[in-house]
Amino acid sequence: MNQIDLSHRHAVVTGGAQGIGLSIAARLVASGASVSLWDRDEELLSIAAKHLGNGKVVSVEAIDVSDPAGVAAATAAAIEKHGKIDILVANAGIAGPNHTTWEYPIATWKQVIDINLVGVFLCCHAIVPHMLCQGYGRIVNVASIAGKEGNANASAYSASKAGVIALTKSLGKETAKQNIAVNCITPAAARTRIFDQMSQEHIDFMLSRIPRGRFLEVDEVSAMVAWLVSEENSFTTGAVFDLSGGRATY
Ligand SMILES: NC(=O)c1ccc[n+]([C@@H]2O[C@H](COP(=O)([O-])OP(=O)(O)OC[C@H]3O[C@@H](n4cnc5c(N)ncnc54)[C@H](O)[C@@H]3O)[C@@H](O)[C@H]2O)c1
Repeated sequence: MNQIDLSHRHAVVTGGAQGIGLSIAARLVASGASVSLWDRDEELLSIAAKHLGNGKVVSVEAIDVSDPAGVAAATAAAIEKHGKIDILVANAGIAGPNHTTWEYPIATWKQVIDINLVGVFLCCHAIVPHMLCQGYGRIVNVASIAGKEGNANASAYSASKAGVIALTKSLGKETAKQNIAVNCITPAAARTRIFDQMSQEHIDFMLSRIPRGRFLEVDEVSAMVAWLVSEENSFTTGAVFDLSGGRATY
C-alpha cells in the first residue's frame, strides 16, 4: 500500500457504514485522517466505527443525505467535534430496481435521484462554504460508469450518476481559484450489498462489459480516492476518474 499523508485532516465519508464507503474510510484512517461516517443505517454505522478505531478518530451520524436539515446538522456536528472538514467523499447511493424507463415506478425514480444526486448536492452545499472559509478542501463524488454510458433498465441510476458528473464539473470550476479540488470517480461494478437491489441478469450484464473480466475490488477504489483527497492533488479539479477496468471509451 502506498503511503499517503492525511495526518491532521478531517474527512466526511457518506454511505460509510459498508461497501465502498467503509473501504475508503479505512484507507483514510490508515493514512492518518480522522473520519466522520454519515449513513442512514445506524446499526451498521456502529459496527463500522468499532472496526475502524476509537472515538477520537471516528465519529458517526445516522442521517439521510437527501434530508437538508440532517446534512446541515451533521456538518455542524463534525466541525464542532473535529474543528474542521478538509475532505468530503460523497459516496452514499442506491441502485434502485431494474425496470425499463416506461415501466419504472415514478416515486422510485424520484427517490433514486433524490439520494444519488440531490444528496451529493446537499453535502457539497453544506460543506463547501466551510472549505471556502478555511481556504482548503478536497471533494470526491462517487458517480458510476452508468453515468457515462446509460445502462438499459437502470435509467434512474444512470441519470443520477450523469448528474453527479456534471455537478462535479460545475463545482470544480466555481472553486478552482481556491485551494479546493472537486473530482468524481466512475467505478464499474464492485461486489457489495448494492448488488442485492439488482437483478442477476443486470449483474451478469455489468460483468460482461468489463474488459478486465472481473469485478472491481473496493480497495482499488479507496487507493484512487486516497490520492485524490490528498494535498498533493493540487491542480486537477472538475475531472472524472475512471475505474471501469477498460470499459469507458472516454
Ligand atoms: N458497487 C458497485 O458496483 C458500484 C459501482 C459504481 C458506483 N457505485 C456507487 O458507489 C457508492 C457506494 O456503493 P456500494 O457499492 O458501497 O453500496 P452499499 O449498498 O454497499 O453501500 C451504500 C451505503 O450508502 C448508504 N445509504 C444509502 N442511501 C443513503 C441515504 N439516503 N443516506 C445516507 N446513507 C445512505 C447505505 O446505508 C449503505 O451503507 C454508491 O454511490 C454507488 O452508486 C457502486
